Amino acid sequence: MLRIYCGENYDEMSRKAANIIAAQVITKPDCVLGLATGSSPIGTYKQLIDWYEKGDLDFSQVSTVNLDEYQGLSHEDSQSYYYFMNENLFKHVNIDQAHTNLPNGLAKNVEEECERYNKVIQSCGGVDLQLLGIGHNGHIGFNEPAEVFEKETHLVELAESTIKANARLFENENDVPRHAFTMGIKTIMQAKKVVIVVSGEDKAKIIKEAFFGPVTPKVPASILQMHNDVCIVGDKAALSLI
Ligand code: GLP
Repeated sequence: MLRIYCGENYDEMSRKAANIIAAQVITKPDCVLGLATGSSPIGTYKQLIDWYEKGDLDFSQVSTVNLDEYQGLSHEDSQSYYYFMNENLFKHVNIDQAHTNLPNGLAKNVEEECERYNKVIQSCGGVDLQLLGIGHNGHIGFNEPAEVFEKETHLVELAESTIKANARLFENENDVPRHAFTMGIKTIMQAKKVVIVVSGEDKAKIIKEAFFGPVTPKVPASILQMHNDVCIVGDKAALSLI
């Protein structure tokens, strides 16, 4: 089932998404959260931190698996998703760092790293709630438009448009890594619940295409139409075409 929650603006969207995640953590304190990076979930994380500080949330038993990581960036690199997660969530709440997981961007052997990450996800017992953003080309995690849906963790070559979109966070476009590790589509689809946060007019078209157009690997997020429990949490601008 697809549920759509609309907030007036980014902050309201973030609060609604955080409410869904908070409900998950409260009802299953040892849940596995699948987490995302990007601008879209930052407000959601801020709200969760706020509720944690007020004593309303406890992350001590929560485990996390992140969607993706750039290849070649170390944990200390401020552009790595490891760094992002620490800055935007982990270091502010009582999560056990040993229970947080991301692909290792510095892994020498790509195949081994993909295998390792698949096992990490399996050994957590699967994802209870997967938080997602969406790229302008419909990518989820770093599953870029392709001829087939890639199932499990793999290394991707980033689309030119993704490099351009993410360049805003780097000093210059050449610094954006060309490759990244990402969880696969099958793994994302196996999450019990999927919450996708989306904000801004520039995402309106892809949201319409992904959720109301044909299901195709050319729009990776479109596969979510086949999932049983998906919430789109958006602001008015992002939901303006649906
Ligand atoms: C990045 C991430 C995705 C994210 C997307 C959208 O490339 N790998 O997981 O959903 O871009 O990012 P934003 O929320 O900043 O628009």
